[in-house]
Amino acid sequence: MAKAQSHYLCQSCGYQTARWMGRCPDCGEWASLLEERVTGERHGARRNEAPSGSSRATPITAVDSLALGRMSTGLTELDRVLGGGIVPGSFVLVSGDPGIGKSTLLLQASMQIALRDGVVLYVSGEESLQQTRSRASRLGPLSDRLLLLAETSLQIILDQADQIRPTILVIDSIQTIVSDELESPSGSLSQVREAAVRLMTLAKEKGISTVIIGHITKDGAIAGPKAMEHLVDAVVFIEGEGHQIHRLLRAVKNRFGPTPEIGVLEMTSSGLRELANPSEVFLSQRPSGAPGSVVIPTLEGSRPLLVELQALVAAPSAPVSRRVFNGVDSNRGILLLAILEKRLGLALSACDVYVNVVGGVRVGETAADLGIAAAVLSSARNLPLDPGLCVFGEVGLAGEVRAVPMAERRLDEAARLGLSHCLMSRHNLCRTMPDFSSLRVSGLSTVEELTERLERW
Ligand code: TYD
Ligand code: MG
Repeated sequence: MAKAQSHYLCQSCGYQTARWMGRCPDCGEWASLLEERVTGERHGARRNEAPSGSSRATPITAVDSLALGRMSTGLTELDRVLGGGIVPGSFVLVSGDPGIGKSTLLLQASMQIALRDGVVLYVSGEESLQQTRSRASRLGPLSDRLLLLAETSLQIILDQADQIRPTILVIDSIQTIVSDELESPSGSLSQVREAAVRLMTLAKEKGISTVIIGHITKDGAIAGPKAMEHLVDAVVFIEGEGHQIHRLLRAVKNRFGPTPEIGVLEMTSSGLRELANPSEVFLSQRPSGAPGSVVIPTLEGSRPLLVELQALVAAPSAPVSRRVFNGVDSNRGILLLAILEKRLGLALSACDVYVNVVGGVRVGETAADLGIAAAVLSSARNLPLDPGLCVFGEVGLAGEVRAVPMAERRLDEAARLGLSHCLMSRHNLCRTMPDFSSLRVSGLSTVEELTERLERW
């Protein structure tokens, strides 16, 4: 038997060292170095090997295009974030908080693929065969081509997958899989990394499309982030508030997709359903005539989405005023409050300010700046905004309103949903604009102009 070796591995960032240290010199985390013992020589040697379908150089024109042969998951929103479906032999990570719907989503997709396209091997390391079956019965019709395996041993899973050669292999979840060649516990970085590398090698060599589920740790990172994210072809996050019925799918990385798309789904007792008209749903419960509420057309990937942004500026509840930003970046929010305070003379530092994007949506783009400014202004001055108004644009430190990409798509969506007026950067207006007959579009240069406009209504 080969000699057992050991090293210390940071569970947070993957830093490796021969001796123990109290603090990781790479990421600065305390007490994160754990001893990992390895048997056999394969551990270090094979890890960095590139997966290869062929070891012969090939003319580029003789290589099949990936656009061919994508397989639909039966869920158009999942297909959309994957760039049109699952690419044969691809390796995809689906991640999200516990209870967000990862198992449901992938079981639904597995059932659809089994009904239409071929054999699916669904490996559950978390639930028994009976539990998985009873969950599946609630989701739709069953097919013989959906094979279940309740197993956590990496070697058995690889062996079964190699024998069965399914069209799709689903692993629920990577953190439960253990390799008996490693002594570290399941869920540790080296186990997760080992399982990911071995499964990826199988996927690439045998052309088995593999989807692995990964739980998020409390700080939002996927366990073994460095080891996992660079290995996989695509990372899809499922997001949403626990109590909300909407779930957003977001591709944060996709080697096979052009842009980071989002998908919008709704939870039902029979699984996740597509929303035909997400903007309409997000705006359906808007209060009318309430100060602090504004509609912003955001753009995630190529899809415009109208969401409601709310702000509440209130008398401070404690000696130190509070700032709470939900769904928007808090640094960006604080910066905008400082700009509004300085440029418009709003006494915000003496108030509590709460900003929330309704429906559990997270808006990452700076195009939301003008919307945040309008909502804060509206609440601070107790000034209800026109219910047909939407607002977008980036705000600079000098209070200038800057252009943002793809204004036309945003305006299109606003017009489609019957909004009547849009405020945006004057610089976006300069470009040739199609005529939105029902939607009046006005350009602004500064946040001072925003105040004038809003006060005039
Ligand atoms: P689950 O898929 O088990 O979440 P995860 O695998 O991410 O931990 O879903 C959590 C619970 O929510 C589960 O009891 C099933 C239920 N659920 C529905 O009833 N309908 C749905 O559409 C979804 C997504 C989940
Ligand atoms: Mg699960």
